Amino acid sequence: MTAPLKHSDPITVDVALGDRAYDIVIGRDVLPSLGGRVAALRPGARTAIVTDRNVAKHWLEKTEASLAEAGIATSRVIVEEGEGSKTYAGLEQVSEALIAAKIERNDLVIALGGGVVGDLAGFAAAILRRGVDFVQVPTSLLAQVDSSVGGKTGINSPKGKNLLGAFHQPVLVVADTAVLDTLSPRQFRAGYAEVAKYGVLGDEAFFAWLETNHADIFAGGAAREHAIATSCRAKAAIVARDERETGERALLNLGHTFGHALEAATGFSDRLFHGEGVSVGMVLAAELSAQLGMIAEQDAMRVRRHLAEVGLPTHLQDIAGFSQEGLADADALMALMAQDKKVKRGRLTFILLGAVGGAVIAPDVEPSLVRDFLQAKLERRA
Ligand code: GLY
Repeated sequence: MTAPLKHSDPITVDVALGDRAYDIVIGRDVLPSLGGRVAALRPGARTAIVTDRNVAKHWLEKTEASLAEAGIATSRVIVEEGEGSKTYAGLEQVSEALIAAKIERNDLVIALGGGVVGDLAGFAAAILRRGVDFVQVPTSLLAQVDSSVGGKTGINSPKGKNLLGAFHQPVLVVADTAVLDTLSPRQFRAGYAEVAKYGVLGDEAFFAWLETNHADIFAGGAAREHAIATSCRAKAAIVARDERETGERALLNLGHTFGHALEAATGFSDRLFHGEGVSVGMVLAAELSAQLGMIAEQDAMRVRRHLAEVGLPTHLQDIAGFSQEGLADADALMALMAQDKKVKRGRLTFILLGAVGGAVIAPDVEPSLVRDFLQAKLERRA
């Protein structure tokens, strides 16, 4: 696609899960339509909005106004910003607040925020009274293209990320692309890694389109809606075929085995955002695929070139404090990867590339090979 896109009516993507099917509504300035959509979906339901302090500052009043206009009663639950809320303590805070707000089986929890809020509020909804429906209103690019869609909810254990959770699908996702204008450039870029992931894993034409159109996505042009809708369509199709990740849904983890280990090695801190870990991880997966002869070196270089062009980290050495203990250590990274949920009976599963746009599940990669590969990458001169 070369002609510039124009902003259009909201785009609706269907997540085809039978009697649990739901819509993802994507568009610039769709947030004010939330109340009407919720009222149509669940007449008479009361709602509780779970959000974080920072998102509340920008978007809570607008969200409440939309619900009030549709005659919907609402209460608010505000957690601290950041991964620190995706904990037992955060879950207790949200669950107790929902109980205090008298949210019942026919009511709705509304997750207004990024991935942390969506995962936390979704999990609280999954266990409250053995399951209350919830709506996702994602406010980060990462949440709009990935975490708000597909029903993965959960919290972290001190022993690892997302180790406690449930599959609990939302009943509606409303993604307002204008909301992304308040993200820092770094946060937006980190979310963009997940957009690029859909091209790299299953859609070469989309990846080529991103190579040409990324500037308009960052600038908030109509390409942004197109990119988000294309990403959501790709995810919705995979989730509809493999909701519980018994097979192909694992492809969505491209870049995540390396990425999660890097996040853990940096203490899940601001040194490395999730999407930045996915960016470095995706390049490592491409390079490992090239080393294994599955793709050409140029293909791996193409993936790196695009991610680097938009300003994402692509080398281990790009990560802040690279030489600190735990990160520049192949054995430590291997130990962290062994904690990954994708480990089955001690065997490491990687998502590798058979082509740009053709990811494959490699269920039994030889650990010593990965270790030596990482060691060579760590020895690369910064
Ligand atoms: N974020 C990967 C998935 O939803 O399966």
